[in-house]
Amino acid sequence: MSKNIARKVYNISVIGAGHVGLVTASCLADLGHKVCCMDNDSAKIDLLQKGEIPIYEPGLKELVSTNTLQGNLFFTNSMEEAVVHGEVIFIAVGTPPKESGEADLSYVENVAREIAQLMDSYKLIVEKSTVPVETGEKVKNTINLYIEKDVPFDVASNPEFLREGSAIHDFMHPDRVVIGVDSERAERVLTEIYGPLNAPIIITDIKSAELIKHASNSFLAMKISFINAVSRICEKVGADVEKVAQGIGLDKRIGQEFLKAGIGFGGSCFPKDLDAFIHIAENLGYDFKLLKEVKRINEEQKRLAVQKIKDVLWIIKDKKIAIWGGAFKPETDDIRGAPVIDIINELLNEGATVSLYDPQAMENLKIIFGEKLHYADDKYQAIEDADCLVIVTEWDEFRNIDFDFLRQRMKLPFIVDGRNIFSLQKLQDKGFIYCGFGRPQITNSKSGVKK
Ligand SMILES: NC(=O)c1ccc[n+]([C@@H]2O[C@H](COP(=O)([O-])OP(=O)(O)OC[C@H]3O[C@@H](n4cnc5c(N)ncnc54)[C@H](O)[C@@H]3O)[C@@H](O)[C@H]2O)c1
Repeated sequence: MSKNIARKVYNISVIGAGHVGLVTASCLADLGHKVCCMDNDSAKIDLLQKGEIPIYEPGLKELVSTNTLQGNLFFTNSMEEAVVHGEVIFIAVGTPPKESGEADLSYVENVAREIAQLMDSYKLIVEKSTVPVETGEKVKNTINLYIEKDVPFDVASNPEFLREGSAIHDFMHPDRVVIGVDSERAERVLTEIYGPLNAPIIITDIKSAELIKHASNSFLAMKISFINAVSRICEKVGADVEKVAQGIGLDKRIGQEFLKAGIGFGGSCFPKDLDAFIHIAENLGYDFKLLKEVKRINEEQKRLAVQKIKDVLWIIKDKKIAIWGGAFKPETDDIRGAPVIDIINELLNEGATVSLYDPQAMENLKIIFGEKLHYADDKYQAIEDADCLVIVTEWDEFRNIDFDFLRQRMKLPFIVDGRNIFSLQKLQDKGFIYCGFGRPQITNSKSGVKK
């Protein structure tokens, strides 16, 4: 159990047992609160009740298990049970993008309506999901429309900044906690809940809190696209973006994080939140051209990966392309919005054979690609007789490689390093054709076919 124990124990319900909901529920339970985690996906709840975790997130299984055994955490598919239990109710359901890029808020509306019909005492309803500015007002209106008993309630915004793969650490050690409220009671309750984390707490109005989340994610996405744009210039002049990024990032005003050039960002948040923010601005009469460009650069990076293969192989049809990594980042099995999806689709369209390996995301990738790919049991099986290896996700196990072995087993010693994880010098010494992003490209083919 966490050393930071809550001074006042709350009965809390978390609606939605996904990446955010499950981590939020487990961490709040670990802080000593009595937490009910509710999801309308009964299969998911069945698993959780058996102590199984539907997603891969380091440390989560242990955290759920400890807190369930201690009686601080339980799971249900009954909204009634969740609403009766929780004085504080966090909404952590999905807000996926519609085709237009706008956030689909139907899950949030649905939950707000159900809570309204079941409330029988004061409730503090907290938006944990990432939602457009002014959603708080819409939630409040919806509750007022459907409320059946005359009980008071508050709505608050408390956006989540955790990253998959380090979600528990991020929740427990946040850079800041953002709390958007319009009542003293809501402020007091949320401050008491988050106080034990000893993190700076920013109290704002609800709209500002909602905006902080979209603005933060868009800013981080902008940093990535910025360095990717710089990487294009580096490639043209033979400079090394890794060095350039280091030189930029050591300036404290800029910071080193999110300055990694490569095939760009993916995941269930950045692409979606960027699109949503562009739409929010559009609806408010502002054309957020800067963010449109951030998105365009990111799309281009994925195409660039395939272009780099073509630059060397010329024709991709009937070539065997090995891919290491499918998850949108290391330490997760999440492939939502993962760059690998577009890259594989383009390779398949060009007639390539694709052999894929990821340490955690294989099952999820099989759901998308079915029989269209070869799924390797390990990284070395994937590269057997391959014309090219593409690094898509920078899992640690891809960093320490026996390049002599690789060279023996591949048809061509050719690597497209979408995450710049390898040393340029080493790959050159080992005779590889090596194309990173924003670094000098080793495209001489003298190293050629394996002996
Ligand atoms: N995944 C991240 O890294 C991350 C980080 C910060 C914020 N967010 C935001 O948090 C929100 C949730 O994201 P996620 O990744 O956890 O999504 P998710 O898809 O993993 O989980 C959402 C869960 O909500 C459940 N759900 C949907 N409708 C429901 C209903 N009516 N009643 C009960 N349960 C319902 C779904 O069954 C699912 O289990 C999104 O708005 C997302 O943008 C995500």
